[in-house]
Amino acid sequence: MSQPQSGILLEHCRFGIFIEAKATGDFAGLRQGCKALVAALDALRQQYPQERLGAVVAFGHDVWRELSQDKSAPDLKPFTPLGNGIAPATQRDVLIHIQSLRHDINFSLAQAALSAFGGAIVVEEEIHGFRWVEERDLSGFIDGTENPVDDARPLVAVIGQDDAASAGGSYVFVQRWEHNLKQWSRFSTEQQEQIIGRTKHDSEELDPDARPDTSHVSRVDLKENGKGLKILRQSLPYGTASGKHGLMFIAYCAHLHNIEQQLLSMFGDLDGKRDQLLRFSRAVTGSYYFAPSLDRLLAL
Ligand code: HEM
Ligand code: MG
Repeated sequence: MSQPQSGILLEHCRFGIFIEAKATGDFAGLRQGCKALVAALDALRQQYPQERLGAVVAFGHDVWRELSQDKSAPDLKPFTPLGNGIAPATQRDVLIHIQSLRHDINFSLAQAALSAFGGAIVVEEEIHGFRWVEERDLSGFIDGTENPVDDARPLVAVIGQDDAASAGGSYVFVQRWEHNLKQWSRFSTEQQEQIIGRTKHDSEELDPDARPDTSHVSRVDLKENGKGLKILRQSLPYGTASGKHGLMFIAYCAHLHNIEQQLLSMFGDLDGKRDQLLRFSRAVTGSYYFAPSLDRLLAL
């Protein structure tokens, strides 16, 4: 059984670091960096066994094809803009996603990751996320209510043995969103609930007839042949109170298709209707990655 990387399935972490980088073409350095990062991670996990530390290294399409030299992750592709450009593409080569209960330990691992990869990567974006009160997004709505739990998490997020070359791996999507909270506060609570599709205080789903089909939940709660298109979200709020802030969205899935269908639906590329979230938040980055299993990562 191929083991997924340690940062994928964790629950209720309190802090996250998201690093996205370009590769410089030093593939030996990338391979070496993966091993060194996992060694640093193992050491920190032994030092702080209670803090739920985990990490994921994932690769964009072009670099993964060079690194893997195999047929794994057949659905991986570069992210391209959606909704006539309202969802921009900023595809990068390497994602390092760290999460745990403590920002200080995450920071130590991020430093170790950067020294592990050295000149093999050039960081283009580094975001420090934090869990806000009651696991709410900065909009005030609880984020994660419909996330899969327990045994459903690996079933949703991790590729199974039927695709032996990719088993234990996961497709990843990262998209940074900037909220306009001043704009958001102009909506009444009832209007906000219509935009999200759930109640604000306790996150109860509004009846499908009682919410517009442009509500966020209606856009992303999709079914195909009677089966729900599920994803595992590990998003966190980020930013400064006085400056830019929003949601660092990240999702893991055994099927890139599920994530893509939700995105097409949100940005109007399925039926011309857009997610009302876009009335107060905008997507400013977007990349697809593949996170190979831990064994595959160490054997690159
Ligand atoms: C549900 C917020 C972007 C996929 C939710 C919920 C909130 C929320 C408050 C309801 C509670 C829950 O079930 O977690 C946001 C915000 C976003 C954002 C603030 C960005 C500004 C996205 C994106 C995707 C997505 C980009 C997909 C690519 C989902 C899914 C659900 C969900 C699958 C659960 C739907 C269900 O089964 O009921 N989101 N979301 N979200 N969101 Fe988002
Ligand atoms: Mg549902």
